[in-house]
Amino acid sequence: MKKQITILSGAGISAESGISTFRDANGLWENHRIEDVATPEAFQRNPELVLEFYNLRRKQLYEVEPNAAHFAITQLQAQFDVQVITQNVDDLHERAGNENVLHLHGQLKQVRSTGYPQTVYDLEGWELRLGDTCENGHQLRPHIVWFGEEVPNLMVAAEIVSRADAVIIVGTSLNVYPAAGLYQYARPDTPIWIIDPKANELSYPDSITPINEKAGAALPRLVRSLLNGEIIL
Ligand code: APR
Repeated sequence: MKKQITILSGAGISAESGISTFRDANGLWENHRIEDVATPEAFQRNPELVLEFYNLRRKQLYEVEPNAAHFAITQLQAQFDVQVITQNVDDLHERAGNENVLHLHGQLKQVRSTGYPQTVYDLEGWELRLGDTCENGHQLRPHIVWFGEEVPNLMVAAEIVSRADAVIIVGTSLNVYPAAGLYQYARPDTPIWIIDPKANELSYPDSITPINEKAGAALPRLVRSLLNGEIIL
């Protein structure tokens, strides 16, 4: 049976594709405070602003490509059962050929009904407007887990991590819970790496091996070591 490797990814894995991370630029995210664009209250207060914000993020998705880190994960699939759990709402994992991708915080290209949360659609194009409704007449909203909202895939994710033979954390500041605590579901003897150019500034247990580098260089190298047997799980 193939060994299972879980990748826990965050905004940093998409940084080299040209998508801004959340906390690297003075705490602002594309010039907005997170609470002005990524909370249910923000959507109630100023739905136009929130829709426009996500429209621009979605539009940008059509202008960027997966990078070496996403493609390295695809190569890893040749020998391992690879499970990606991502906080990202972009689709770069999928576009690079990553097969098992669980989105914790939703997906930019999907929208859902504000009246019937189970009604989720793939959005055609990049624009969602005020007045765009589900078939029952309710306004559509981005299918994004905003601050203060529940993370529906959390328990599925925890179960995946608990089965892992290795965990690779890549490009997340480990600031946002519950996602930041997921690695704690790994079995005690499971090797865990953390790839982040600022890994030395993050807080995690000593048992985790830091790689203080960008994902685009470090992840392909780690993947090569796993594929050629230099690292044995
Ligand atoms: N390679 C690897 N890591 C990188 C790179 C890179 N090229 N560039 C930046 N990073 C690292 C940063 O050093 C930082 O530690 O990626 C991390 C990004 O952290 P955040 O911006 O906090 O992103 P993330 O952890 O994914 O945020 C979690 O916050 O706003 C919410 O819901 C949103 O899913 C998001 C969540």
